[in-house]
Amino acid sequence: MKAFEIREFGIDKLAVAEHDEPRPGAYEVLVRMTAASLNYRDYMMVKGVYNPKLKRPMIPLSDGAGIVEEIGPGVKRFKKGDRVAGCFFQGWVDGPPTPEKVRQALGGSIDGVLREYVVFHEDGLVNVPQHLTELQAAALPCAGVTAWHALFEHNSPQPGETVLIQGTGGVSIFALQFAHAAGLKPIVTSSSHQKLQRAKQLGAAETINYKTTPDWDEQIRKLTGEGVDHVIEVGGSETMPRSLRAVRMYGAISVIGVLSGGDATVSPRPILMNSLRVQGIYVGSRAMFERMNRAISAHQIIPVVDRVFPWTELKEALEYMGTQQHFGKICLEF
Ligand SMILES: NC(=O)c1ccc[n+]([C@@H]2O[C@H](COP(=O)([O-])OP(=O)(O)OC[C@H]3O[C@@H](n4cnc5c(N)ncnc54)[C@H](OP(=O)(O)O)[C@@H]3O)[C@@H](O)[C@H]2O)c1
Repeated sequence: MKAFEIREFGIDKLAVAEHDEPRPGAYEVLVRMTAASLNYRDYMMVKGVYNPKLKRPMIPLSDGAGIVEEIGPGVKRFKKGDRVAGCFFQGWVDGPPTPEKVRQALGGSIDGVLREYVVFHEDGLVNVPQHLTELQAAALPCAGVTAWHALFEHNSPQPGETVLIQGTGGVSIFALQFAHAAGLKPIVTSSSHQKLQRAKQLGAAETINYKTTPDWDEQIRKLTGEGVDHVIEVGGSETMPRSLRAVRMYGAISVIGVLSGGDATVSPRPILMNSLRVQGIYVGSRAMFERMNRAISAHQIIPVVDRVFPWTELKEALEYMGTQQHFGKICLEF
């Protein structure tokens, strides 16, 4: 079977290798991959920015879906023919994270999904929601679970509460779809007028162009009075200081991303003076994935897939991600 490999860092250095087809052992499931999706992490991983000490060769990408081809002895959760998606953390089934539970991250500390067949432990898979294609389901494991975790697993937001969503990438568009479905009031920022128009169609109550309105935190204060209830913080060093000014007293900031860098100097003062709840989010557990899928099914939510590339065109797909033209997810089809 064919598999992509990171041997040296750089998009141009990605290689395709021939591997033996794996066989499932006890409690393992052999999946024929049919779809995958890109996350910003994969872009950083291939470039050597995410983890310069990455073990190589490494098969890239955390997110994929496919069809169960064969099950090993003792497997109870799946049968041949089931449509499944892999969990980002293969060892985090439920409860709060521990160093042990987050040790095995696909396409990071262990080989990822960009290969024709993958053997998973049965505990590291979930069923694909019935109304979704595998391509749409391949968008879920990292970006979807992260947005779900941030919005609902630490808070019980009430309808009408405001949530600031930064940009229109994978995590942010899931956050917009989930917030809208839950009756929250999403405020979306973007560098693009066209993308903001699309965000409105998906339920954004207010939109702000962060290029033409660089003081967007002031604009949020004008729109909300006391500040937003919750911030989905994906921007990192450029956005964090403004997020601290845009949130209300005792509001929540979910710290997720580092799109503009990860070395912000943040004063502890506004956090303590405003009694803020600042929560780091690291994707999530399989139980969160399953709770998210239940909501996705109940609301018939369809992940927003911006563009689909053949899986062999990983380099083109990553280069496209680097241009930041996408809205939602970039997917790969096998
Ligand atoms: N902690 C976790 O578990 C976790 C999980 C998933 C992702 N992440 C992180 O979250 C971030 C987003 O990931 P993703 O996969 O959703 O990325 P993505 O799809 O590549 O998102 C790119 C979009 O982000 C927006 N953006 C870029 N710089 C921005 C800035 N300074 N302010 C506001 N928006 C900005 C842009 O939107 P516009 O074009 O609309 O301006 C851009 O198109 C990344 O840093 C990623 O590493 C963390």
